[in-house]
Amino acid sequence: MSVTIIVGSQWGDEGKGKITDLLSKDMDMVVRYQGGNNAGHTVVIKNKTFKLHLIPSGIFYPNVKCVIANGVVVDPLVLIREMEELKSQGVDVSNLLISSRAHVIFPYHRLIDQAQEKLREAGRIGTTSRGIGPCYVDKINRRGIRIADLFNVDSFKEKLLWNIKEKTFMLEKFYDFSVDLDFDRIFDEYLGYARIIKKNVVEDSGALITKAVSSGKKILLEGAQGTMLDVDHGTYPFVTSSNPISGGACIGAGIGPTLIDNVIGVVKCYLTRVGSGPFVTEIKDKLGDYLREKGNEYGATTGRPRRCGWFDAVVASYSKQVNGFTSLALTKLDVLDDLETIKICVAYRYNGELITYFPSDLSVLEKCEPVYEELPGWKQDTTKISDFSLLPKNAQNYVKRIGELSKTPVEMVSIGAERTQIIRL
Ligand code: IMP
Repeated sequence: MSVTIIVGSQWGDEGKGKITDLLSKDMDMVVRYQGGNNAGHTVVIKNKTFKLHLIPSGIFYPNVKCVIANGVVVDPLVLIREMEELKSQGVDVSNLLISSRAHVIFPYHRLIDQAQEKLREAGRIGTTSRGIGPCYVDKINRRGIRIADLFNVDSFKEKLLWNIKEKTFMLEKFYDFSVDLDFDRIFDEYLGYARIIKKNVVEDSGALITKAVSSGKKILLEGAQGTMLDVDHGTYPFVTSSNPISGGACIGAGIGPTLIDNVIGVVKCYLTRVGSGPFVTEIKDKLGDYLREKGNEYGATTGRPRRCGWFDAVVASYSKQVNGFTSLALTKLDVLDDLETIKICVAYRYNGELITYFPSDLSVLEKCEPVYEELPGWKQDTTKISDFSLLPKNAQNYVKRIGELSKTPVEMVSIGAERTQIIRL
């Protein structure tokens, strides 16, 4: 198994950071392939909490090369701050590499993100306001500025001038947003960032990965966000602007699909979602608040409270279909430890009929009601258990049922934030 992809199977925040950190120990390279600093991957090591937004979670292992690949959108200031913060905590970041093909986030991207959300009013997506969507728009619109451009002063100048002219016009005239996008200031600022990151920039992350695979190295491709936030397969338009699914990994890392051996889906034992958009199994009463507090369900990037709900097998099998998971890593089982009964949504009821597919039309999805199966809880602390057979029987049954409904073997169960709190099956 030389190339493994790790993907969030739900709406992000499944606990990918911890699983990536665990797997990274046996890897030679960990690669981020999409998204930007909208992500927040939390890793807890010996009671110390690290929050990563851009840097791959493999950074805590000095022998692991960490790559920010071409599919990521990079806010250089955030990246530099993250590098400095890790360094100040004794983490070596000299193994970090950044693709020259990755696109760069500029101040106008953040402004457009905010202006668009303001204009959308009730139809707000609830973005992270980090400029992620507008940066990807520029990429697709062939207006983007890539890391490589920062090292070509003339072409950078030309591209930035054009972008500032276009964005100022759009922000002022269409969005009625007053802006001060001073060319000289932004140009100098970004040239400064380029000087700082220069030693970390590589020509082609794909070539690096392909070469490493041929010499027998082990690679982990780390997705951010989650399947249901995928711009093609998620609850569009309440999605992010990239492809977190496994298919996105090849594009975002610059390698061919034939190199992929394994696709691990990270599955939270209940569901959460940040931002707007339909959520069939959302729990809107006190139990939802209980899960939020017990599971510390607050955004690692924005601090926003996450909406909480029951595990949804319709989402799980859809996620399996679009990702082709070979195994699952379940997270946060311990959050359910004190519950009397636990619900699993096994189908939706729409207009009186049972459906088991995930509807593309959000007006249909909004009218879907969950059909639940109820399982008895285990009312026992699971946080210190290290062997599956020692889990309470009802907890074992819950895990098995998730695997069955997801049509994928469960390989790991996480029962706490620490590295050590993991059960391998
Ligand atoms: P954007 O990615 O900032 O454009 O936000 C689009 C949607 O994706 C919003 O609903 C965000 O809350 C959500 N989102 C973006 N990144 C994450 C993440 O890392 N975890 C969970 N939700 C996210």
